Amino acid sequence: MRFENVARLDGKVALITGAAGGMGLVAAQLFAQQGAKVMIADFNAEGAELAAAGIRAEGGQAASVGGDVSRNSDVEAMVSATVRAFGGLHVLYNNAGIMMGEDDNPVTTSEDVWDRTMEVNLKGVFLACKHGIPAMLASGGGSIINVASFVAHMGAATPQIAYTATKGGVLSMTREIAAIYARQGIRVNALCPGPVGTPLLAELWSDPARKARRVVHIPMGRWAEAEELARAALFLASNDSSFMTGQSLIVDGGIVSSYTTPE
Ligand code: NAI
Repeated sequence: MRFENVARLDGKVALITGAAGGMGLVAAQLFAQQGAKVMIADFNAEGAELAAAGIRAEGGQAASVGGDVSRNSDVEAMVSATVRAFGGLHVLYNNAGIMMGEDDNPVTTSEDVWDRTMEVNLKGVFLACKHGIPAMLASGGGSIINVASFVAHMGAATPQIAYTATKGGVLSMTREIAAIYARQGIRVNALCPGPVGTPLLAELWSDPARKARRVVHIPMGRWAEAEELARAALFLASNDSSFMTGQSLIVDGGIVSSYTTPE
């Protein structure tokens, strides 16, 4: 058979940041179901362990580690816990990210909000690559998935300036890291979701006017389910995307491709 029907992450070790909830949790469940050994890293250590226990209860392999992706020593500990538990690292899924409620336009957004958003969303990805790449090279290579957003490609008139700036940075950093490691067996791609129904957007969901303002721009007329992003992440994590690096995979119901939306 030219195409084998095997679990797509068999024998792979995956570290997923921010996987106690939202899209990261769903991806952790899918990756484990596809044969990966999954380390769930999250600021919320209790939630991370609950998530790992849930996967183990279903027959998957998972462990957890608490920590803040914006702290160098915490990220170093996330990577070493992964290697200690599962013997290597093949998939680094940099999913942890925040969007602060006070993040608005450049005039009203405080320096504190700007700094914290940069620390988590941008420095967090840098730190994970800093510590994850040596472990991946020692494991024979692998795939890095950096979660950016469709706002890395276009501006939103409903502002969130710090968040948008970090996601643009994640996309640029992805391209450069991809170029650096392309011949050493590490692929690096950005996953750019459109709006997804997770706790991150709970605040927007609760305001019907803001929600309607966003949904009108989505050609498919709805927000994504976390599962739809997890499947795209699985494609990037697995050998199915073996000739793809430095790319931005946009999963957004058509937002960035459209000027007007259907009636
Ligand atoms: P979420 O808020 O539902 O979950 C994020 C997880 O990250 C939580 O478990 C949280 O505890 C953890 N986390 C937050 N700060 C952390 C830190 N400093 N260190 C370690 N863990 C931390 O978020 P969601 O919606 O699942 O988003 C995941 C990624 O997707 C983020 O990078 C987000 O920016 C991005 N994204 C989300 C979109 C959406 O519509 N929900 C759209 C586009 C991108």
